[in-house]
Amino acid sequence: AMISLRQLLDHAAEHGYGVPAFNVNNLEQIQAIMQAAQKTSSPVILQASAGARQYAGEPFLRKMVEAAAEMYPGIPIVMHQDHGASPAVCLQSIRSGFTSVMMDGSLKEDAKTPASYDYNVDVTRRVVEMAHAVGVSVEGELGCLGSLESGTAGEEDGVGAAGQLSHEQLLTDPDQAADFVARTGVDALAIAIGTSHGAYKFSRPPTGDILAIDRIKAIHARIPDTHLVMHGSSSVPQAWLAVIREHGGEIQETYGVPVDEIREGIRHGVRKVNIDTDIRLAMTGAMRRAMARDRSEFDPRKFLKEALAAARELCAERFEAFGCAGQA
Ligand code: G3H
Ligand code: 13P
Ligand code: NA
Ligand code: ZN
Repeated sequence: AMISLRQLLDHAAEHGYGVPAFNVNNLEQIQAIMQAAQKTSSPVILQASAGARQYAGEPFLRKMVEAAAEMYPGIPIVMHQDHGASPAVCLQSIRSGFTSVMMDGSLKEDAKTPASYDYNVDVTRRVVEMAHAVGVSVEGELGCLGSLESGTAGEEDGVGAAGQLSHEQLLTDPDQAADFVARTGVDALAIAIGTSHGAYKFSRPPTGDILAIDRIKAIHARIPDTHLVMHGSSSVPQAWLAVIREHGGEIQETYGVPVDEIREGIRHGVRKVNIDTDIRLAMTGAMRRAMARDRSEFDPRKFLKEALAAARELCAERFEAFGCAGQA
C-alpha cells in the first residue's frame, strides 16, 4: 500500500530505525528493491530524481511504482520526489500521485547556486501548505551538500552546489534548523554534514573532521521531534569498485559513508537515508562481470538479471543494517 513519508518516519522514530530511500529509474531497480523488501519484511521509500523523471518519463515511473504496490500488497511504499527545484515541480509531482516531495530550497531554481535562508523558508513553506492540504509529506533541506575536504560540491551528477562553499554552508546550524522547521512545518529535514552526491565523496576513509556525525547529534538534541534525512549516503563498497576495475572500468580511489556511521546517525534522529550511487556501482559491476564472463551472450536479460541480483543483495543489507528489516 502507498503511504506518506510522514506516516512511515513517525513509525521509524517510534521504533528507532532508519529507512533507506533508494533512487529508482527503471524496472530492474524497482524489482530489486521490492524483492529485498519482501525478503526482509521492510517498508520502502522509492524516490525519483529530476534525472529519473527525465530518463523514464513520469508516467512510466508512476505506473511501475503502482505495479510494485500491486505485486507486494503487504509492503508499505512511499513514492517520493527527490530534490524538487521549485514549488511548481513539487506541485506537478503532487498532482501525479507522489505521496511525498522534497522541496530543495537550499539551492536556487537552477539547482546549483546556494540560495538565501529567506528564499529557502519561503519556497518550502509554500510547498508544505499545498502538499499538506492533500495529505502529501514534505522534506526540506537546510545547508548545502558538499565536501569539507575540498569545499566544493565535488560531484559529477549535476545535483549539488556549484563552485566553492564556505564551511558554514557545508554544515547545518542547529539553531537555524530549529527556526526553519518551526517556520516551514516540514515533515523531514535534510541536513548537511559533509556528504556529497556521487561516487567521489572522500579521498580517504572519512574521519570526524570530514564526516560530521557529531553535527547530527547537535541538531537532534535541538529538534528531537524532527525526522532527519541524510543525503549522499552511499557507502561506495570497495568490493564493487574492485569488480568494476577488474572488468575494464575506470574508477579512481574513493570512499563513501561507512554503514556504521549511518547507524550512529540513526541512533540520533536520522530516519531517511538516501542511496543511489551504491545501486549504480553494484549493477555496473555485475553487468561488466557477466558480460566478460559470457562473451557470446547477447540477451540483455542475462546481464540485467545479474545486475538486479546485485542490487537486491545490497538493498537487503541496508534494510538489515538500518533496523528496517521486520518493520513492514
Ligand atoms: O540526487 C541525486 C541522485 O543521485 C540523482 O542523480 O540526477 O543522476 O538521477 P541523477
Ligand atoms: P548517493 O550519491 O550517495 O547515493 O546519494 C543519493 C542522494 O542523496 C539522492 O538524493
Ligand atoms: Na529526497
Ligand atoms: Zn540528495
